[in-house]
Amino acid sequence: MKSKQSKATVVAAATRIESRVLFGIETSFTADYLDTLARLGIAVAAGILTSPPRWSLRGIPVVLHPEEISPLLLELPVLLCGIPPKLREAEHRHASSLGFKRFISLVDPTAIVSHGIHAGKGLYINANSTLGAEVELDDFVTVNRAASVGHHTVLEEFSTVGPGANLASQCKIGKRVMIGAGAVLAPNVKVGEGATVAAGAVVFREVEAGVTVVGNPARVARPGKDDAVTASP
Ligand SMILES: CC(C)(COP(=O)(O)OP(=O)(O)OC[C@H]1O[C@@H](n2cnc3c(N)ncnc32)[C@H](O)[C@@H]1OP(=O)(O)O)[C@@H](O)C(=O)NCCC(=O)NCCS
Repeated sequence: MKSKQSKATVVAAATRIESRVLFGIETSFTADYLDTLARLGIAVAAGILTSPPRWSLRGIPVVLHPEEISPLLLELPVLLCGIPPKLREAEHRHASSLGFKRFISLVDPTAIVSHGIHAGKGLYINANSTLGAEVELDDFVTVNRAASVGHHTVLEEFSTVGPGANLASQCKIGKRVMIGAGAVLAPNVKVGEGATVAAGAVVFREVEAGVTVVGNPARVARPGKDDAVTASP
């Protein structure tokens, strides 16, 4: 015989299944998360504000500061709203230290995702992006609007592919790499840990760890810098 549950318990369970906590809602990237959640019909339980907001926070039903987080909220799946690698990594550390454990992925329903991909946790795959066959995405990778990631490409943790970027195929992208909007990577290109590929760069050769490359063909604009993670907040 099924055990009887109170209405409150059933509603709480349904809310737990459906709703998400958004962490780091101060950056305007959060608006894209809200759009994707709306397209999926998934509710937002609360947004956690960790620094002063840089946009209107429209559409977030409950805004909390870290010290206001209840144990119940820590049970919910949480999405990190930062897009640049270092910000996202800092958010992960912060959210973990507060007790969040369920870092789940968010995949926009308009994205085309091959069945054969290997995916970690905490990913954000934004609208109209395409992931080819056998693509490998490690934890906390972001693929932004209308980016294309070709088959057998590997993206290591916390790397970010900017809007409209095109990674041809079999590329190997290291940890915390930032690939700017509209960049193009030829097949088999490797990008080392912490490197930045500027918006619109066209890359034919290996990019060393920590450097920033710009232009077509891409040249090193800043050697050995591993914190050049720039994106509009
Ligand atoms: C490359 C970038 C990170 C700037 O890095 P930076 O280390 O601060 O570099 P600077 O702005 O000082 O520029 C260094 C040189 O590169 C050039 N440069 C910078 N961005 C460039 C670009 N996108 N294309 C061509 N040249 C560029 C600058 O003109 C400068 O050239 P100079 O040395 O001949 O004067 C930034 O311009 C960029 O493209 N960011 C990506 C933003 C993005 O697409 N975000 C996506 C959001 S998800």
